[in-house]
Amino acid sequence: MLHHDSPAPSPHDADWWRQAVVYQVYPRSFADSDGDGIGDIPGVTSRLPYLARLGVDAVWLSPFYPSQLADGGYDVADYRDVDPRLGTLDDFDRMVAEADRLGLRIMVDIVPNHSSDRHVWFQEALAAPPGSAARERYVFRDGRGPDGGLPPTDWPSSFGGPAWTRVPDGQWYLHLYAPEQPDFNWDNPEVREDFHRTLRFWSDRGVAGFRVDVAHGLAKDLRAPLRDLGERRSYQPAALPVDGSHPLWDRDEVHEIYRGWRQVFDAYDPPRFAVAEAWVGTSRRSAYAAADGLGQAFNFDFLGTPLSAAEMHATIDTALADARRAGATSTWVLSNHDVVRHVSRYALPGDFTKQDIEAWLLTDGTEPAPDPAAGVRKARAAALLMLALPGSAYVYQGEELGLPEVAGLDRADLRDPMWVRSGGRVKGRDGCRVPLPWTSEGASFGFGPGGSWLPQPADWGRYAADGQLGDEDSFLELYREALRLRRTLVVDEELEWAGPRERTRQGLLHFTRAGGWHTVSNLSDEPVPMPPGEVLIASGPLTGDALAPWTTAWLRTERAPGR
Ligand code: GLC
Repeated sequence: MLHHDSPAPSPHDADWWRQAVVYQVYPRSFADSDGDGIGDIPGVTSRLPYLARLGVDAVWLSPFYPSQLADGGYDVADYRDVDPRLGTLDDFDRMVAEADRLGLRIMVDIVPNHSSDRHVWFQEALAAPPGSAARERYVFRDGRGPDGGLPPTDWPSSFGGPAWTRVPDGQWYLHLYAPEQPDFNWDNPEVREDFHRTLRFWSDRGVAGFRVDVAHGLAKDLRAPLRDLGERRSYQPAALPVDGSHPLWDRDEVHEIYRGWRQVFDAYDPPRFAVAEAWVGTSRRSAYAAADGLGQAFNFDFLGTPLSAAEMHATIDTALADARRAGATSTWVLSNHDVVRHVSRYALPGDFTKQDIEAWLLTDGTEPAPDPAAGVRKARAAALLMLALPGSAYVYQGEELGLPEVAGLDRADLRDPMWVRSGGRVKGRDGCRVPLPWTSEGASFGFGPGGSWLPQPADWGRYAADGQLGDEDSFLELYREALRLRRTLVVDEELEWAGPRERTRQGLLHFTRAGGWHTVSNLSDEPVPMPPGEVLIASGPLTGDALAPWTTAWLRTERAPGR
């Protein structure tokens, strides 16, 4: 069954990813087939027709592997299996077959920086003595101080607290995230070979690509003596050195690992694709996206840039230049499972920093009071902007429904390790992971026949997919129509800015793309005259000749050749 207006790309098209729209599924919160309150693989399969109708090209699944869920599944106990609560490998194969039938590609998340402490290798390491081969797969070291009672270095965990935990025989092991997530030792060839095996395992099952978790963390400087970070303890991308000299993050040697992965990917037809999650400075991103590396890298600058024409202009230019340097295409992301949903971010007054947003969450989303209507308006304008840009767009589940952040979750319900590990200073990421509402009424709003592992707000049904389908003013129909148009409009990978720079300073973002269409975003509080052309789609109501504040429109100036 073809869901597209234009023919589905051939499954052998090696470049399918370059301008793909990829939909991120957070499996535990997507659809629950058996009523245990946890989303599962058969649940994903049952909703693939919805995703095909939405018009995305590929589906990326966050981890579904066996896991004790110390970090929402990013603590993997077995890289080559499905968590029994989420299904079986047969269920996975059925999902891939159904995706195939619908013309959708499946991507999976690979978590190579660390495993779960339940992984058989880590259990072996704990049972083995210091200096053993089993310990060499991870990073075990003796402590400092007279009895080795102090951690080997001052390295902090990204979730708060030290990055070292002591085991009963006195050694310490490294975990840049939670203690349940011991870091692998990537200097060990056995670790490298095992990941090649994992990449082949999923590629053989028909997976088209991989999202690579914490791609900038694998290579570490573990030569003795380990170096303290001192003043350089901040892991913020902007604070990292740009010469690869940080002992833990974004070291140049990491690319050698990915060159090995590329050989694995290129043994398939079409070659398998990968996108790096690398929180690095902008100038360092293209190395991850290199053709002999992973091929593409997330551009999180877009997500962090205030919705201002001048700043967006600069961010877009940088991202495009960057991707071009790598021979890749840029990615555009507004939300994912790690950040506050953008409808809610845009509802906050002024330009909010990450810290401001964290503080806002701690007030359960009350201080400052959000302006939900402004959030919706801006999120719709941002969505049409994102979907008009050359490159691939990553859409996080529920974003197409306009779901807000559930900022008021009870402390007792929080599952994100950030909450506990930060000593209650960071509320964490649960608010963007609340299970989806599929139906306006019924058990867990159609998420499944039972409850939901994170409580859904009482009014969740108003965002339900079933209520939005067919309502042309809805978020869902905005995304569907934009994705449908995008398929017919996109002919190349370039954009050209239109209009004088002066207009950008006044809040107008205007660019053209080949094939005779252009996009104009009014990112200001004042209406502006609408440029000439036939309006194909707009993120808000159109009034006369003006483009309303905080609105994006796509227009056609001339008919594309052959259409
Ligand atoms: C990535 C994931 C995040 C996880 C972390 C540790 O940043 O996106 O959810 O907590 O890696 O695996």
